[in-house]
Order: sequence, then C-alpha cells, then structure tokens
Amino acid sequence: MDFQFTEEQLMIQQAARDFAQNECLPGVIERDEQQKFPKEQVEKLADLGFLGMMVKPEYGGAGMDTVSYVLALEEISKVDASTAVIMSVNNSLVCYGLQAFGTEEQKQKYLAPLAQGKKDGELYIGAFMLSEPEAGSDATSQRTTAEDKRDHYLLNGTKNWITNGGSASVYLVMAQTDVAKGSKGINTFIVEKNWPGVTVAAKENKLGIRASDTHTVMFTDVKVPKENRVGDDGFGFKFAMKTLEGGRIGIAAQALGIAAGALELATNYAKTRKAFGTEIINHQAISFKLADMALKVEASRLLCLKAAWLKDTGQDYSLASSMAKLYASETAMWSAVEAVQIHGGYGYVKEYHVERMMRDAKITQIYEGTSEVQRIVISRSLMK
Ligand code: CAA
Repeated sequence: MDFQFTEEQLMIQQAARDFAQNECLPGVIERDEQQKFPKEQVEKLADLGFLGMMVKPEYGGAGMDTVSYVLALEEISKVDASTAVIMSVNNSLVCYGLQAFGTEEQKQKYLAPLAQGKKDGELYIGAFMLSEPEAGSDATSQRTTAEDKRDHYLLNGTKNWITNGGSASVYLVMAQTDVAKGSKGINTFIVEKNWPGVTVAAKENKLGIRASDTHTVMFTDVKVPKENRVGDDGFGFKFAMKTLEGGRIGIAAQALGIAAGALELATNYAKTRKAFGTEIINHQAISFKLADMALKVEASRLLCLKAAWLKDTGQDYSLASSMAKLYASETAMWSAVEAVQIHGGYGYVKEYHVERMMRDAKITQIYEGTSEVQRIVISRSLMK
C-alpha cells in the first residue's frame, strides 16, 4: 500500500488550489447571492483540461487518473462547491458514460468537444438526465418515453433538477422504450439542447450551490436519431447505475472539499478570535470540535481515494463509491454546521463563507443518490 501521491498528482492538486484561490474565490459570494453561473471559471476549467480529466487524449481529454480528479475536486470545492459540481457532472456523468459505453462515432462527435469543454470557441458541456418529478431515488420508474419510430426515436417527458440544465449543449437522457420490461426497457439517448421540442424551463431557486444552474427540461416530440442511443437496446438503466458509481466519487470529493474548507476556516478563526482572555482554540469546547472535524475529514479523504484507486486499477468500486459518498456528505453537513457554530454570530453572515458551505453541503446528501440510497447499496452488499 502506498499513500504517496505521484509528482503529477501533486501538480494537479496545486493547479486546482491555485485555480480555486485565484479564479473562484473572487466573487464567490456574489455568484451565490445572484445565482450567477460561473461561466468564466468553467471556461478556465476547460483551459486547464479539468472538464475531461479522465478522458483519453485521443478524444480530447487530459488522460489523468481518478485520484487526480478527487484531489482537484477537493481543492475547488473547498472554495466554490458550485463550480465543482459543474465540473463533476461533466467529467463523471457525461464524459465517463460516453467514453465507456459510446460508439466511436458518438465519441468523435460528442465526447471530444465535451472533454475539451469547448466547441467552435464556445463553452460546450453536458448534463445527465435521470431524475423526474416522480422518479428520484426510485430511478426505474421513468415516465419519459422514447418511442421507436423505425428511423428515429420520439422523445416525450420531463426531467427535473438537472445540473447544467440551462448551460449544457448536450444531454444524456434516460427514457422508457418498453414499459413492460421495467429497468430493462430503459435506454439512454444523446440529445442536443437546440433540437426542436426541447424546452429548458425556469432555473430552480436553490438553498445551496446556487451558482450552478439547475433546471427542469421538457421534451415534446423530440426526434432523436437512432445512432444517438448509447449502448445496446435496454442498457439505459445499467448505463445510469454504472455512470453514477463514478459520479458518486465526484460528489464524495465535493463533499470532502466542503468539509475540509469548513475545517480550515474554522481553525483559522479559532486561532485569532479571543474570548475569556484567550484565543478560542484554547478552549476545549472548540478544539475538540476541530479535532472531530479533522478526523472525519481525513476518514472521508481516505474513502474517496480508495474508491478512486479501485476505479483506476480496474476493480469493482460500486460499494466503495457509495461508502465514500455517504460518509463524506454526512461529514460535510456536520462539519459545516460546526464551523458556523465556532464562528458564532460571524458564522451566520455571508462574508465568512461558512454559512454558504452549510447550505452547499446539504445537496451532497441528496443528489447522485441520497444518503438513504447509499445505505441501500451498502446494505445490499452485506446480503450477498
Ligand atoms: N451496476 C450495474 N448494474 C446495476 C447496478 C450497478 N451499480 N445497480 C443496479 N444494477 C442493475 C441490477 O443488477 C438490475 O439488473 P438485473 O435485473 O439484470 O439484475 C437492474 O439494474 C435493476 O436494479 P435494482 O433491482 O437493484 O433496482 P432498484 O429499483 O432496486 O434500484 C437503486 C436500486 C440503488 C435504489 C437505484 O435505483 C438508485 O441508485 N437510485 C438512485 C438514483 C440516483 O442516484 N439518482 C441521482 C440522479 S442524477 C443526479 O443527481 C445528477 C445531477 O444532476 C447532479
């Protein structure tokens, strides 16, 4: 077992840290307040090669490993969890799925520009569309349909809470092609946002990660070419599950970053704020909170890195990614609340960042599989 990072991994970590400090920190409070999509930041992520980190260079990606991806996401999420989720969805849910299961034609046409984050000089990112008004955790209950019309599919339905819903150019949409077949009657389709019949509805007004743009997207008689189905007929649900396994590593890393960022801010504050004649870090009520935060952050980091390592070494990472996501997201929520508590009244106002982290942390327990769904995956592994 080797706990050392390679030189390349350390360089990527440093590049992400610099990016977070120099590009994300300025304006992060305003973007949160105004729900402003971080376009400039995402374009710079594209320039850094961070939008297709694990995509092979022949498809325009940076060819990095998942460990590097975790390191980069942690650093960015310490400062700006909204920018981090945009990056995570493009990498894990969109690029990964196309690289692993797409045809050569799909890879050339869609994966290559998505991995670079640019097409014809314009921002070009993707979104993943599984959730529906009545299909969240119960993801097999898809109501969106794609009717086989011989030379194309006809797509109808509504998708909810879609990260990058307004800013993405390409969507991976899960839809029922044969209701009678249940999970085996679901397919995944590549849909372009500007096709006739695609409607991006209003942006959600969210509690946290407010700078990421989350939308409902509706499909009305959208003609999807046959060649835009990903994988064999009926592979759509498995596609979603396999893709989410990697996605959960990304969200775990995002949660880890929020927790680590909250710990860093709370520690710095506790070293300078005085009460009862000394810096508050000298009071055990505070230092023990910080100790527990540090412990849980480190445990989250190890779980994230283990899941990433399993993926990089070609081993099964389904259980590990669920464990990492569950633990890191619970840690993010708890640590952010503690960080607010340590800051006292200052923690409750925007300038000190921890109130935003507390709001941002909540979603990590919900998207890409709630904490309850992760417990289903973990407990099922014990029943085998
Ligand atoms: N890999 C491969 N196949 C898998 C799989 C996996 N990880 N998990 C399940 N499957 C297969 C099963 O083997 C089964 O196939 P067979 O019939 O051939 O055996 C089929 O899929 C159905 O599986 P289940 O019977 O286990 O399905 P279920 O209805 O019991 O659901 C669940 C299981 C784990 C709860 C799943 O529905 C789930 O993960 N739900 C949560 C969905 C989710 O994460 N949504 C997030 C939305 S995306 C998002 O948030 C994106 C964003 O914008 C940030």
